[in-house]
Amino acid sequence: MTQFGHFDDAAREYVITRPDTPWPWINYLGTRDFFSLISNTAGGYCFCRDAKFRRILRYRYNGVPMDAGGRYFYIKDGDTVWNPGWKPCKTPLDTYECRHGMGYTRIVGEKAGLRAEVLFFVPPDARCEIHRVKLTNTGKTPKRFQLWSFVEWCLWNASTDMENFQRNLSTGEVEIEPDALYHKTEYRERRDHYAFYGVNRPYDGFDTDRETFMGMYNGFEAPQQVLSGTSGNTVAHGWSPIASHRFDLELAPGASDELIFVLGYVKNPQEAKFTAPGVINKAQARKMLQAYGTPAGADIAFATLKSYWDDILSRFSVASAVPELDRTVNIWNQYQCMITFFFSRSASYFESGIGRGMGFRDSNQDLAGIVHLIPARARQRILDIAATQFPDGGCYHQYQPLTKRGNNDIGGGFNDDPLWLIFGTVAYIKETGDFGILHEKVPFDNKPGTEVSLLEHLKISFAHVTDNLGPHGLPLIGRADWNDCLNLNCFSDNPDESFQTTENKTEGSKAESLMIAGLFVAEGKDFAELLAHPAVAADPKYVAKVRSAVAAMEKAVKAHGWDGEWFLRAYGYYGDKIGSNENEEGKIFIESQGWCTMARIGADEGLCDKALDAAVKHLECEHGLVLNAPAYTRYIKDYGEISSYPQGYKENAGIFCHNNPWVIIGEAMAGRADDVWRHYCKITPAFTKDQSLRKVEPYVFCQMVAGRDAARPGEGKNSWLTGTAAWTWKCVSEFILGIKPQYDGLLIEPCIPVAYGTYKVHRRFRDAEYDLTIRCTGKPGASHFIPYIPGHHTLDIEL
Ligand code: GLC
Ligand code: GLC
Repeated sequence: MTQFGHFDDAAREYVITRPDTPWPWINYLGTRDFFSLISNTAGGYCFCRDAKFRRILRYRYNGVPMDAGGRYFYIKDGDTVWNPGWKPCKTPLDTYECRHGMGYTRIVGEKAGLRAEVLFFVPPDARCEIHRVKLTNTGKTPKRFQLWSFVEWCLWNASTDMENFQRNLSTGEVEIEPDALYHKTEYRERRDHYAFYGVNRPYDGFDTDRETFMGMYNGFEAPQQVLSGTSGNTVAHGWSPIASHRFDLELAPGASDELIFVLGYVKNPQEAKFTAPGVINKAQARKMLQAYGTPAGADIAFATLKSYWDDILSRFSVASAVPELDRTVNIWNQYQCMITFFFSRSASYFESGIGRGMGFRDSNQDLAGIVHLIPARARQRILDIAATQFPDGGCYHQYQPLTKRGNNDIGGGFNDDPLWLIFGTVAYIKETGDFGILHEKVPFDNKPGTEVSLLEHLKISFAHVTDNLGPHGLPLIGRADWNDCLNLNCFSDNPDESFQTTENKTEGSKAESLMIAGLFVAEGKDFAELLAHPAVAADPKYVAKVRSAVAAMEKAVKAHGWDGEWFLRAYGYYGDKIGSNENEEGKIFIESQGWCTMARIGADEGLCDKALDAAVKHLECEHGLVLNAPAYTRYIKDYGEISSYPQGYKENAGIFCHNNPWVIIGEAMAGRADDVWRHYCKITPAFTKDQSLRKVEPYVFCQMVAGRDAARPGEGKNSWLTGTAAWTWKCVSEFILGIKPQYDGLLIEPCIPVAYGTYKVHRRFRDAEYDLTIRCTGKPGASHFIPYIPGHHTLDIEL
């Protein structure tokens, strides 16, 4: 089995040891406004705040070859041209290594006695990437060689940048200065932002016109100027502006040299855009160039970044007997939760950054992964999300991060959405104890004057379900529930329309969802607990109403949602069963088994154990639990997009990793530790052995791994931006290791095989810090409550 890399836990890095990974293995840079995607060969792009509207570097998706375009350094040593990251020239290197760390990537290449090390990072709170290039002559003779930098500018709107060439090819403008090459396309008119690529020493040549630099018919692997050892010193007018500096260098044996590049973004006040007619105001860029353009400045910025992540990752850590578990918990799962929170589903190597905005349900679920890490940002996100709700409790399915406005193209009508606001808020308050957030005034649909308290928003979220019940007293599904592809009110036979946005034919529909039913019961119980807490002390009559609605739902599920051996998935438009043994295909689905067992519906009657047994029997395969079984083998108009996927992929019997933890948590609540552990190891990348089969990054979860019916079961897709990050985090931290934040303390309630059941956890919780040694002896249902008391506590807990 080919290995492409390994973990370095002490450094919190993944080390890639050959550049030809089965798919680009990427990392993310940035923590606030300025974000970058960078692959193990330095491919990728960056943007400020919005991947669609403020794209800084151009990127070609799905290119041939894959992952073309990025921040490239070309080295010409004699007749050999090479790149430290192997691509794009692909000249064989004597040494190659890429280390993806927390918010930085370090790529090292060595060829014929010349070593080039490039450190890429985005300093916290800065709007730039730093490229720190260190060159060392490792040979015995002096070296004369040349170095070129290269980036290609995007014309800001990543969508029109790929479409509107009759305009685009005439708009490009740049300014050339000794400290930097400035990209100012459209700055002359409404834009107040520009980008620049600067370097901390005089360059020997430059280019800003792509055609001159590359040659009209050359690719990134053979730039004309590099091949001929020159620069065109071009000033781009229209066409495709780029930035490239050239340096003619010399190094004695053993000597090193360092260049620091800053790729930045500046937004100016409207009234201070220019310093002379047509000349952009460069003051902010110069400040950045000065701040980071010295080794000391770059060192400080990098140290600040390090301490940012040290602080984040010092809040929860485990020391167990299982290294795969420790590295997942201590490093990569929490890191992925942060990245997913920052990006929602916008920009990855599977999401182009020009499509969806922030999902209402997605963003709420993402909170569960970061409330313990960046509570203040979680708070703001909750308020932003709530502001996209409608007065009837429904909500925009998505909103745009730049404007925070709901997205009209997709609208609302996804009936699980409102409940996730309760989920996110409960997670936040349990972590922080900040009940005050419930009194924050939040508008509807961002309309000033419509403000009500967040608590009111939660109430109408809850009521949105009870106001929309179907014939069996179960929640109407609307456009879709969590499974965006189970489109029971869509009936589309037009290939040119999206299943998500086609006319919503819910009028007269009987389509009900058992997934929402389970979610409602689980979140309804949480909601009642919140309302009854002395810090909220809601009207007892209202609390009783919530509790009785939950009880009624449990009753409805037992009466109409139980199929004999498992929970049904749904009723269709006509009231027909879905996810029933009566169906030919799609007899059983994962979502309702997960949610109804997490809600413990019918647990006393044995329904949860039966449903979990059925999930193991019918859904489990070598690589995890598939979404449904048997897979749909043809398109069924009544079900929609789910049946559009070939068997084994995505929502049609793929291993949709996002929902595996639902079953795992259900298993944990039922005390089935061996099942919990087995399912968890299957979907957790640190445990997977075959890197070629898995294909995508071995350090992050995928949204989907191909299921048993697919051509290559076990092949991963859609890595990084997925609710899997937050859900596996919740699963492992609260249900496997068993550290459950409560309003007034921590409940310790693990579910882990005894063989791995002794471990230490370090947990920061509000103003307290806990060092726990936990010893599980296998006693069913054992738990221990630690009341919240500020200060440092060391506890030894045997369960
Ligand atoms: C994607 C969507 C999410 C949806 C899931 C299942 O991950 O982002 O909103 O719930 O697919 O369809
Ligand atoms: C597709 C995908 C689903 C995703 C949705 C978002 O339907 O299968 O996973 O949630 O698109 O628009």
